[in-house]
Amino acid sequence: MKAVITAVGGYAPDYILDNKELSKMVDTSDEWIMTRVGIKERHILKGERQGTSEMAVKAVEEIFRKSETSPDEIDLVICATVTPDHIFPAMANIVSDKADIRNAHSFDLNAGCSGFLYALDTASKFIEAGSKKKALVIGADKMSSITDYSDRTTCVLFGDAAAAVLLEPSKDDSVGVIDSILRSDGFGRRYLKMEAGGSVAPPSIDTVKNKEHFIFQDGRHVFKYAVSSMADVSVEMMKKHNISPDELDWLVPHQANMRIIDATAERMGIDKNKVMINIERYGNTTAATIPMCLYEWENRLNKGDNLILSAFGAGFTWGSILVKWGYNS
Ligand code: UT7
Repeated sequence: MKAVITAVGGYAPDYILDNKELSKMVDTSDEWIMTRVGIKERHILKGERQGTSEMAVKAVEEIFRKSETSPDEIDLVICATVTPDHIFPAMANIVSDKADIRNAHSFDLNAGCSGFLYALDTASKFIEAGSKKKALVIGADKMSSITDYSDRTTCVLFGDAAAAVLLEPSKDDSVGVIDSILRSDGFGRRYLKMEAGGSVAPPSIDTVKNKEHFIFQDGRHVFKYAVSSMADVSVEMMKKHNISPDELDWLVPHQANMRIIDATAERMGIDKNKVMINIERYGNTTAATIPMCLYEWENRLNKGDNLILSAFGAGFTWGSILVKWGYNS
């Protein structure tokens, strides 16, 4: 039995932080950001006590409307995030409560920017095993909550968004989640992290003073590994399933840097018009980038289309998933 995506929902908050506004906050420019990264603007969730779940619930409710699914029917919720509302309870529990999902088991999964791929793979195994019938896989992050807006090396990169897919058993086993290649190497934990807030360095006056509750990234190191790793697993997936560049319909890459996306597409030998790219309008929304692309491209997807989803992120974690799209919109 295969697990097939049957609906997609997405949400980005209204407030837009563009390069012009950022240039007034730190020593940067539209030209630097566009040339080195490819971002024009990001959406930011404003307002007191507004957490990632606010956005995730909107994506989930859109799925309920579109697919005429009732919350009672959902039996699994997996939320990929690095910015949960709280350390505990899990954000998946909070989303379930807010969306009135009462019959599911729900948990969070942290695999950095590869979180959505890890969550999709995990949920598909529950469906394939026959133990779950309707799973929500959510990728959501409020990156603005851990971004230091005085650090030009990171604040230009990130944005806030949430998106989700509904996963169900497929009656037609030629479509669905076909295969996953997921990897990690903890060696990379040094280069992309949030130092404090966990059990090693609980919040204190010092951790706040030292800005340890913000994203730390050694960009050059991460870039080097991201470029080769994302391309490696994507090419490996094509070879494993004998998919030629012509036969691949879409690459759905994590949106961290336009140059990483271009390098991955080039190694795979595919044209840029087959690559889902929206980094210019959202920046890096961590676990939300890939489902957000699926959400925005949904109307252009046809049943049977070959999609390779590919990501690299904190951990390091990386991977690719081959999906045969399950429906025409
Ligand atoms: O999603 C999770 C995985 N994350 C990634 O995949 C991100 C991977 N890394 C990257 O995308 C890139 O490394 C960055 C976009 C973060 C940085 O681009 P880069 O081309 O690697 O720049 P760099 O760090 O080598 O910095 C080049 C120069 C430096 O100045 P000097 O030392 O040459 O004088 C930086 O200080 O650019 C400077 N710089 C900036 N200048 C203007 C760094 N950030 C900025 C900025 N505006 N925002």
